[in-house]
This record gives sequence, C-alpha cells and structure tokens, in this order.
Amino acid sequence: MTFSSSNPRVLSGMRATGRLHLGHYHGVLKNWIKLQHEYECLFFVADVHGLTTEYKAPKIIGDSIWPMIIDWLACGIDPGLANIFIQSQIPEIAELHLLLSMITPLSWLERIPTYKDQQEKLREKNLNTYGFLGYPLLQSADVLIYKANYVPVGEDQLSHIEMTRELARHFNHLYGSEPDFETKAELAIDKMGRKNANLYRELRTRYQERGDHEALEIAKALLEDQQNIALGDKNRLFGYLEGTGRIILPEPSALLTSAAKFPGLDGQKMSKSYHNTISLGDEPLIIEQKIRTMPTDPARVRRSDPGEPEKCPVWSFHKIYSSDETKEWVQKGCRSAGIGCLDCKQPVIDAIQKEQEPIRAQIKDYENDRGFVKTIVAQGSDAAREIAQHTLDDVKQAMGLDY
Ligand code: TRP
Ligand code: SF4
Repeated sequence: MTFSSSNPRVLSGMRATGRLHLGHYHGVLKNWIKLQHEYECLFFVADVHGLTTEYKAPKIIGDSIWPMIIDWLACGIDPGLANIFIQSQIPEIAELHLLLSMITPLSWLERIPTYKDQQEKLREKNLNTYGFLGYPLLQSADVLIYKANYVPVGEDQLSHIEMTRELARHFNHLYGSEPDFETKAELAIDKMGRKNANLYRELRTRYQERGDHEALEIAKALLEDQQNIALGDKNRLFGYLEGTGRIILPEPSALLTSAAKFPGLDGQKMSKSYHNTISLGDEPLIIEQKIRTMPTDPARVRRSDPGEPEKCPVWSFHKIYSSDETKEWVQKGCRSAGIGCLDCKQPVIDAIQKEQEPIRAQIKDYENDRGFVKTIVAQGSDAAREIAQHTLDDVKQAMGLDY
C-alpha cells in the first residue's frame, strides 16, 4: 500500500531464523495483525541482522525468507494494510547506517546488555566482529529511516530502542541547529562565569555522551538559578543541553509487547533453540504426536496417581486454549486421578488443530503461488524505499552532503 494519511507509523522486524512457531504467532504476529488496522505499518525480515550471527553459514537466512513471509501472510498480515519487505532490499538502510556510524560513540554500543551477553552465550559463533557490535546501530537505522513513531518489540529489545532515541537526539543536535545556534549557545555559556560554564559543559557531555539523566537534571537546575543571563540565552542553553534543534530524525517510542511467554512443549518458553516448538504449518498428525508425547506432572507415574496441574506443561496450554469449564474438569480430574493425561491432552490437541487448520491451508496456497508472494514483497519494498529515500535526502542535506 502507499501511505497518504498522517497516521502514526509503526515499524517492526523479525530476524530471519526459519519457519515460525506458535510462540511467534501468539507473541508477535497477533499483535502486528491488530496494529495494521490502527496504524501505517511496515514489517520486514531482518536478513542482515541474521548475518551478524550466521555469517559463517548464511544459507539458513536465504532459506528462511520466503517461508517466514508466507507464515506472516497466512496468519493474517494483510498486504493491503501493511507493507512487507526484506531489509537488504532497501539499500538506503545501509547508507544511513554508515552515516550514523560516524556519530555513534563506541561506548553506546559496548554498554548494550545484549552485546556481551550474546557474545558469551554464542561463543562458538565468534561474535567478535564489527557487524555484531553494530547490531543495535543497524536496528536504529531500520527505525530512523522510516521516521517510525512506534516500534513493537519485546523486553529484550528495549535497550536498542533507547539507543535509537539517543542517536536521534544526538543527530538532531549536531545537524539540526539554526546556522549560528552553536556559536550563540557557546557565547551564552561563557556569560555564566567560568565556574558555572565549566560545570555546564561537563554535565552536558555526561548527558549527551553517556545518557546520564542525573547530569541533565543538575544542569537544568543550574540554568534555572542563573540570574545574569537573558531569557533568550537561557532557552538556547536548555535546547543546547538536550540537543534539540531542527528535528530531522524523530525519536521513536517502543510499544512493549506483553511479557507473557508462550509455553513450549517442555514447559520452558517456546523457542527453536530448546527444540520444544510446534511450527506453523506442522501437519495434524505431527501436532497430535507432539502433544501426546509432551511431559506431564512427573508425580503422575501411574494412571491412578493424582497430579498437580501447576506442575504440568499441559496445563499452560489449557490456560491459553481452554474454556473455564474445561479448565475445571482438568483441575478436578487431575488432582483426583479421575482423568488420564491423554484424556486431558485431547482438548488441547483439538483447540490447536482448529486454530492451525486455516493457517496451514493458507500456507499451502501461498507456497503454490510464490510469484504472488514476490509481487507483494516487491510492492512493499517500493513503498518502503520511497520513504527511505526521502529521509536519506533530509539526512544528507542536514549534514551538508547534498552536493
Ligand atoms: N532485533 C530485533 C529482534 O531480534 C529484530 C529487528 C531488527 C527489529 N531491526 C528492527 C525490530 C527494527 C524492530 C525494529 O527481534
Ligand atoms: Fe498434566 Fe493433565 Fe496429566 Fe494433570 S491430567 S498431569 S494437568 S496432563
């Protein structure tokens, strides 16, 4: 679709990691499907982000792209409402990433919690690379190139969005000021006297380079207290402090996706790395088999042993899929050994089959018409590139690179 309204814009991406599962459907896609009715939406496959960890064997990324997009479409992402595209097909993102890298302090990247964490966890992948350090910067470019207002993400991504906001402020400050704004601000600082001027400069650096909010508050109080400088200068110094000027790159807000984790077959969070998933598109027999072999409360060794639903992964599924009536039947039947575990699993099997059947059918339809899927993505890319080119023009002009 092409955008004409001034509706707020939502952008989100998913790393290319393979076929999606029920956790993606309940945790991410259902939210996107709702958002597409309320906002201008852009959804993309982050294939370059995939490369930051899979650079040694990138085949998994290429193999994932189309199945992922087909899963999105089959679940109800509507190309009439949202733009769907692939990150690497928007070269403007790479260019913005490069330009932003010039103004991004290394310390901002090094202090992102996921950086050291993941490097430790995925030691065998050797993530000692420039690309991996720059992961959040590339994500910032993804968001800023579309001037997105909202970015739906999970909790683990909040630090990336916070960095994006800081970067937007930093950019706007550096390149968005009135032509002689900086000179005027610097003169105003000197009017505070040597001691206060030094303090102001130090606090401003602490805030702008390290995001130190306490320093920001102290500097604001310092400014409030100044008797000897004119109001115009004072206001200039407030702006100079926070880095506001002309806004070229607006700051996005995170839309936190609800924290409830979708359960996997073993009771942990559903995740490919735990091998506990039901994939979108799994055939009915596979779904049935996966649930029939799910572990249950270990105390129920024999059919006659009573159990406790709270200690059983099957119960987590009842909580999602079952009516109050069924849930009561489970609670009573389990604790009294009145029902067997296979009886108990049947309503879950039925509910998942019912939910998955139309999705599976859609997946098959799209699989049989890849040409159509490619057209959808080509149109999504065109619309996304149009916005991206505009932003890049603004950015280059602000930086004086519009020769
Ligand atoms: N880093 C995100 C994740 O792992 C994926 C992503 C890449 C993203 N670029 C983005 C999400 C931009 C939101 C906006 O889930
Ligand atoms: Fe779990 Fe149901 Fe068996 Fe109880 S009866 S242990 S809730 S599968």
